[in-house]
Amino acid sequence: MSRVNLAALLLLGLLLVMPQQSMQASLIDSIAEIEKSNCKVAHLRLGLVFTSDVNERALKDSGLYSPDSEDSSVDIAGRRFHSGTLNGSSIVYVKTGSASVNMATALQILLARFHIHGVIYFGNAGSLDKKTMVPGDVSVPQAVAFTGVWNWKKFGSEEKGHLVFGDFNYPENGENLLGTVEYEKINMFTPSEAPKEVFWLPITASWYEAATKALKDMKLRECYSDKCLPGKPKVVFGSKGSSSDFYVRNKAYGDFLNKNFAAKTTDTASASVALTSMSNEKLFVVIQGVSNIAGETSSNSGVSYLASYNAMLAATKFINSIPTPRLACE
Ligand SMILES: *[C@@H]1O[C@H](CO)[C@@H](O)[C@H](O)[C@H]1NC(C)=O
Repeated sequence: MSRVNLAALLLLGLLLVMPQQSMQASLIDSIAEIEKSNCKVAHLRLGLVFTSDVNERALKDSGLYSPDSEDSSVDIAGRRFHSGTLNGSSIVYVKTGSASVNMATALQILLARFHIHGVIYFGNAGSLDKKTMVPGDVSVPQAVAFTGVWNWKKFGSEEKGHLVFGDFNYPENGENLLGTVEYEKINMFTPSEAPKEVFWLPITASWYEAATKALKDMKLRECYSDKCLPGKPKVVFGSKGSSSDFYVRNKAYGDFLNKNFAAKTTDTASASVALTSMSNEKLFVVIQGVSNIAGETSSNSGVSYLASYNAMLAATKFINSIPTPRLACE
């Protein structure tokens, strides 16, 4: 078949699929169109990702987000991608649902299908060190790691992992059939380097720096309805975060993570945000709202909401500080 015929066939094929997908196609096309226009912009939007309904409610309640138009959302693989502005900055946001596989899938789609300059994640986390962080505070970590990739050793095996279950026997430690667990590194694939194994995933240095500048004196919210935090919430920079598919509410394990990895927060999404962004060579930053202290305070819904809200405010402030091209060409 000649090239011309093939092109004609392809075009016909496209026209046939267009109607059902016209809304979706038009959003993606219009973003692509602007990028090619005279605005001379390399990238247009920042990608905002979070996992839960509480996070989305904070975004909506704030009144800071405005959709681009009535139909400015696109469904891909069951996830809804929304395009709009966050206090004036152009973003595409997606609520990913929980667990690292959902975060990674939704974020990969976001990066593959939209023109995204970089990724901002905000969400809740538990504090592993109450001297540094308490509920209501916001943490901007410098690195995060997957601490849920385990090599669970055979009971009685010579080789011992770092996590020794017998150390946690109660009331006295001793032997335990659960044996030991070693923490594994994870494969990192990127377009420009050979695959390697990594443990700590550093936040993009330039964005981490930008975040320390943009957020250092920021004012966080102290009350929700008639409930107020016991102290004035603050932004904490430079800690390490532990991330896995299980949310840690157990004090003994929280203390173990703090002692062995010097991790000060625990969450279920930040490492997959980091890995997926790094695999796509995209800038990214992680902003965590502390909603509980692992094993001590349990997060009630008011505090959980405040944690989301404060993380969302910090994400907004950061996003507004990043020079991204505006949609209107000035
Ligand atoms: C929204 O942007 C304005 C300036 O454009 C700024 O003064 C305000 O603090 C921003 N709001 C938030 C919540 O970041």
